Amino acid sequence: MTEALLVEHADFAMRNWVDPDPSPAPIGSARHMGMFCRMLLETHNPYRPAVINWPKLEPDARARVTSLPIWDMAVQTEGRASARVAAFAARERIPALRAALEMDGSEEARHKAVLSRLVEAYGIALEKEPPYPAPKDIEWGWLVTGYSECIDSFFAFGLFEIARRSGYFPPELVETFEPVIQEEARHILFFVNWAAWYRRNLPLFKRLKFYLRVAAVFCFLIWERIGIARGLDSKGVDDANFTLSGSSAIGADLKPRDMLVLCLEENRRRMAGYDLRLLRPTLIPRLAALASRLMGAQGVRA
Ligand SMILES: [Fe+2]
Ligand SMILES: [Fe+2]
Repeated sequence: MTEALLVEHADFAMRNWVDPDPSPAPIGSARHMGMFCRMLLETHNPYRPAVINWPKLEPDARARVTSLPIWDMAVQTEGRASARVAAFAARERIPALRAALEMDGSEEARHKAVLSRLVEAYGIALEKEPPYPAPKDIEWGWLVTGYSECIDSFFAFGLFEIARRSGYFPPELVETFEPVIQEEARHILFFVNWAAWYRRNLPLFKRLKFYLRVAAVFCFLIWERIGIARGLDSKGVDDANFTLSGSSAIGADLKPRDMLVLCLEENRRRMAGYDLRLLRPTLIPRLAALASRLMGAQGVRA
């Protein structure tokens, strides 16, 4: 196979996965767990950041890319995510789940490597990175990373499409970055299935405790994002992915309603190729669909 064909094959394989066994996979069952782990492992795209050919950009495109105020936050978010996922993987005893979590963590580390190489290739100056210690509360770190990805990736799907359509990012750069965005789609698909499987297997009392914990995670993430949106603390906030601050930087000329509709379309498109027996992220898409309807959008669904 030529290199171009190999790349095309890997790209298709990362976006499309169906378990060949047609039997049902009830949520919470061992079969469900095996399925969402294999989905992540078998859709891994083996690209290597070191060999990415960063396209040479025209001066105006380069100026747009380098002036985005997101690079420090993006690199640090990936650094923290990889440390948290790796810590959670290390304490997992089920081999298949551990292997999938390790893969998830290594992909986060690779995102950081991709971003670091991009920053280097275009001469973007970064501030000194902080250390990324394993979290003291390992489950909290995993939940914060998982749910923050559910929020941020949903908006990143739409923003990335806007940047592609408007030409804000030149096509070569969009193509280079595309696998990273699809990887986040796989991560949130894996995470929501893990969360449903985990919850289902907890005894009632622990399940209630888990619901409270998830509610606390969401309060924390909302508080953090309000801080970012107000521009109070764009440097020091821990988990706010770059998507929130990225929207204004891209200068998208879209009404909020149309932006939400585009995020919903892109979310559906990115999730469409995976086995329908797996759960899809629903909370953020449902809230976005509701908000867009309240803003007057017709016929929108999550
Ligand atoms: Fe990532
Ligand atoms: Fe991720």
